[in-house]
Amino acid sequence: MEITIQPLDPAKRRPKPADESKLVFGKVFSDHMFLMDYRVSESWKNPRIVPYGNLELDPAAMVLHYGQGIFEGLKAYRCHDGRFLLFRPQKNWERFNRSAQKVCMPEIDTAFQFKALEALLGLDKEWIPHSIGSSLYIRPTMIASEPHLGVRPASEYLYFLITGPVAAYYAEGFNPVTIYVSDEHVRAVKGGVGEAKTMANYAASLYAAELAKKKGFTQVLWLDGVERRWVEEVGTMNIFFRLKDELVTPPLTGSILAGITRDSVIQLARHWGITVTERPISIDEVVDTVRSGDMKEVFGTGTAAVISPVGEISYKEKRYRVRDGGVGEWAQKLYDEIVAIQYGEKEDPFGWVYTLNI
Ligand SMILES: Cc1ncc(COP(=O)(O)O)c(C=O)c1O
Repeated sequence: MEITIQPLDPAKRRPKPADESKLVFGKVFSDHMFLMDYRVSESWKNPRIVPYGNLELDPAAMVLHYGQGIFEGLKAYRCHDGRFLLFRPQKNWERFNRSAQKVCMPEIDTAFQFKALEALLGLDKEWIPHSIGSSLYIRPTMIASEPHLGVRPASEYLYFLITGPVAAYYAEGFNPVTIYVSDEHVRAVKGGVGEAKTMANYAASLYAAELAKKKGFTQVLWLDGVERRWVEEVGTMNIFFRLKDELVTPPLTGSILAGITRDSVIQLARHWGITVTERPISIDEVVDTVRSGDMKEVFGTGTAAVISPVGEISYKEKRYRVRDGGVGEWAQKLYDEIVAIQYGEKEDPFGWVYTLNI
């Protein structure tokens, strides 16, 4: 499929942020966007790049009523030698297609995903920030665009790619978060759509997240939806516990998003000779281990922050400090290594980095 390009009139270019370090996540967008339509009878068609702007959508578009929509999140990094890099993008395209299957949406050929992104970034590469830590956030999205009221999979979809520069997550160094264990509200259940990056999961997380914020905590620690006992995720990140000298993370059993950072941490830690175990871990075990002092570190993992150390956990109105509440040794080491690989500053023994053809 040939991509048509309608470049922005240079006089209408969007103002670039003056100070990269002050960028608020998800507020500034690049000059162009990629769009493509799908109809059941014709498959994907009309791939095009146009100036960034509003979408035209019928108010009966099914995504607006039944939430049939999925997305991804990845970043482009500017390397000191002039290359532009992505981190394990094939994993994002594959997860996108798994999410699509989960909510009865059409898949997109992964090779075409690369082609579309490279065409878009070829036009907007000046938007990829320069300073280490900052990057260009990429948001591939698919929505049900068919105008129809009635619950069934739509027969028309819109796919779009938008991008925007984001600042380093830790402009002033690591800042351990405090987390509130939600034993009343749940994010996802086994057999549901928790393992898909579908919009409904994020709507379902808002109420508990607001509650946690009102109580003075940064993030919610999600427990399983049945027993409210097994730890699943933290905020919109996967979670890791360092019990003595073993790294433990909950297994992917359907209600947890298969994070790409999670997988990278597991591979990297094993490469360093650390024992990593994917097993169910209960909130009681977490609390007991923190109390006994055997819990050396707790941290979340995700594309936005890479590693997010947890300093304190609140469960049933009691607060538990993880060690001294500071940044753990492994969290720091994993963060430094992954960031160095992402920016092409260190050897990439796993072949994770993809050099953009732009
Ligand atoms: C619910 C949820 N869990 C985990 C993650 C971490 O996934 P990744 O490491 O691929 O960014 C994300 C972010 O994408 C998420 O939204």
